[in-house]
Amino acid sequence: MDRIRIRGGRPLKGEIQVSGAKNAALPLMAAALLTDDALTLTNIPALADIATLSGLLAQLGVEQSSGTAADGTRSLTLHARQITSTRAPYDLVRKMRASVLVLGPLLAREGHAEVSLPGGCAIGTRPVDLHLKALELLGAEIELKDGYINARAPRGLRGAEIVFSKVSVGATENLLMAAALAKGTTRLLNAAREPEVVDLAECLVRMGAIIEGIGSDSLTIQGVPRLHGARHPVVADRIETGTYAMAAGITDGALELVGARLGHLRAVADVLEQTGVELSETNRGLLARRMNGRLHGVDVMTEPFPGFPTDLQAQYMAMMTTAEGASMITETIFENRFMHVPELTRMGASINVHGSSALVRGREGLTGAPVMATDLRASVSLVLAGLAAEGETVVSRVYHLDRGYERVEQKLAACGAEIERLKD
Ligand code: EPZ
Repeated sequence: MDRIRIRGGRPLKGEIQVSGAKNAALPLMAAALLTDDALTLTNIPALADIATLSGLLAQLGVEQSSGTAADGTRSLTLHARQITSTRAPYDLVRKMRASVLVLGPLLAREGHAEVSLPGGCAIGTRPVDLHLKALELLGAEIELKDGYINARAPRGLRGAEIVFSKVSVGATENLLMAAALAKGTTRLLNAAREPEVVDLAECLVRMGAIIEGIGSDSLTIQGVPRLHGARHPVVADRIETGTYAMAAGITDGALELVGARLGHLRAVADVLEQTGVELSETNRGLLARRMNGRLHGVDVMTEPFPGFPTDLQAQYMAMMTTAEGASMITETIFENRFMHVPELTRMGASINVHGSSALVRGREGLTGAPVMATDLRASVSLVLAGLAAEGETVVSRVYHLDRGYERVEQKLAACGAEIERLKD
């Protein structure tokens, strides 16, 4: 298993091209199941999770080909001419929970699907009850058997009003896709409004879907009998952007994040500004720059979009370990998303966890150490801590990072970080 070695203490300076968002690309790929025409997605990031979903779609009969644009970004053409299987097996769903996003499209197009139940995951129990209840309201018959979701809609799906009891990105996406081909009108209330949901809705519209309220928490979908092919660029990754903005903050550097959008990071920009890190627009993206002096401790609570994202909580905590003063970080989305705390503590951080809140008492500096983490964002938070720490940090279990950060060590090294991948 690869590891990453960092010698910390160098301010990062330069520019980083922000990749296409993993969490937008995955549902967009699943949307290819909705049509027998080809869907071409540009600005696809080269990540392990993309390869995993690509493998699952291949098993379902989706033909795929990839290309490279002049600017070096990848494109992926997915052609679900004929769906040859409607079963998403345990081995793949266990590897990546987003595989459950094939449920809505398969059910809508084929009238049946068998998808393994994802099971728990490192950051929480993460049930899929909201997806299933909402699909039932569209007329699906759902049975849980032998660890699988067996869903059938023998007479097709029918539009309905769905009020989600909790905001869920994945359930909103599954339902948007299913409702696009259902008979009649579907209303999704208390829907997720994350930019990745918006990106999916915009792609569905390009494919012929009729959707109103895009970007709000109330979506109205007028079902159509058929969707057609389209070409759609994957939105820039706001979580990668926020991660590198915090890398600039923690190392007292300045990074231009090319392709990033401030509109997707307003809550983060507000918090960063209070800590002493400015995020300002340039004509190519955003500039993240530490203002004068030490970082200040600022409290944060994670929330669905447009609030502060849970996917930046670990990175923010790493930054707060070196701030002046204390910061209370409250995680409201997942029940077990503090696995980075013991590892940051090994690097000299002072953090106390009380239930869903962590009290971080900022210290002057961190010290390098061998560390490991059990999920993607926790792993990258240790990379950020390593960039600021004195001495050497070795982050193991790098496969977590490879799931969601494209060429992380090259991007950071190009901005002055002393970072390398150790191949085992
Ligand atoms: C998406 O996961 C992202 N993944 C996650 O990114 C992200 O952390 C999360 O949204 C929240 O923003 C992808 O987009 C592929 P949810 P998702 O359904 O859709 C509960 C990363 O690091 N819930 O919005 O699975 C759930 O347990 C990751 O890139 C139910 O109770 O998240 C959680 O507490 C990890 N029942 C909350 O809702 C359900 O049926 C929000 O989850 C569904 C969700």
